[in-house]
Amino acid sequence: MERWIRPDLRDLLTYSMAVSPEELAAAYGIRPDRLIRLHANENPYGPSPRAREALRNGEWHCYPDPQGRALRRALAEYTGLGPERIALGNGADDVIDLLARLLVGPGRAALIAEPTFEMYALSVRWHGGRVHVVQRDEEFRLPRETLLEAIRRLQPAAVFLASPNNPDGQLLPEETLQAALEEGVMVIVDEAYFEFSGHTFAGWLPRYPNLAIVRTFSKWAGLAALRLGYALMHPDLVRAYDEVRPPFNVNLAAQQAALASLEDRAYLMENVARLVAERERLYRALQAFPFLRPFPSHTNFILCRVSGWDAHRLWEALLRRGILVRRYTAPALREHIRISVGRPEHSEALLRALTEIAEEVPHGAP
Ligand SMILES: Cc1ncc(COP(=O)(O)O)c(C=O)c1O
Repeated sequence: MERWIRPDLRDLLTYSMAVSPEELAAAYGIRPDRLIRLHANENPYGPSPRAREALRNGEWHCYPDPQGRALRRALAEYTGLGPERIALGNGADDVIDLLARLLVGPGRAALIAEPTFEMYALSVRWHGGRVHVVQRDEEFRLPRETLLEAIRRLQPAAVFLASPNNPDGQLLPEETLQAALEEGVMVIVDEAYFEFSGHTFAGWLPRYPNLAIVRTFSKWAGLAALRLGYALMHPDLVRAYDEVRPPFNVNLAAQQAALASLEDRAYLMENVARLVAERERLYRALQAFPFLRPFPSHTNFILCRVSGWDAHRLWEALLRRGILVRRYTAPALREHIRISVGRPEHSEALLRALTEIAEEVPHGAP
């Protein structure tokens, strides 16, 4: 079968989606509805009741507005930018993919700073572009001079940077972004966790036509299943983006739910505040475990370096107790787990499980 597939894509096929959380739960004897999902940075409070209500009625038999005008007007009000600066996508993943389609592609290259969100490299490769990598340091900081040197040397068609970064939760320093933008390359800043960090570069858009910002409703608005992402960027780029996307990439349910979420943002931001408070409490509690070193985070997740214990064994020990966190195979992250912030009762279950595990295995044992 593989011979039908583009040769340059064959090597990228990892089938990593093969195991679902439900299958994992079943394999470890956990009832799927009992599994505590702390692996995907979902919002445990779910969507706004108004978003649920908005889904009760819709002209489901009609195609949605391909320009998403009503939602773009509401987003203009939310972001303080004109609707001509806003492009919509089927989740931030789709926005990233469309930007890669528009900017990178055969004969061109993108620069990414690893470890980071996987989709930048995947999308660029799917579109036939090359991926160049600069490495973050041990603390996941991005050395500015290394980045600038790579930009000057490689002249990438796009630089993908997340702020805060997934998996470590740290913000992109302003000086680093400014220096990259001054080089004149296109820089895409992924602000998927903006509502948790409270920090945005959106105010820089009028000054830098080479800046694009990506956002999502998956995290703060609890709409991960409905898929709604957007980009903030120069109006010419929005027009070009709209030319290369399928016309109905954003479905009507997602548009309606996102609109209702923006109308109910006070409610949703209360949940964000709850998660931020819980993140700080969890961060302090995790520090008490000698085999964990949590990184301070501006998101709804906490990366932990695992020492004196194998990170994959720890992942498995948590799963046996009904808690799914994120583990990694990449060498730079192999000794880490990433824990999404849940409701207080989820943190309690996690801390209980960690305490049990710590008692099971004597402190410091390999
Ligand atoms: C940095 C970052 N960007 C984008 C996304 C994807 O968001 P969406 O659900 O809108 O595709 C995620 C999801 O985990 C993320 O961590």
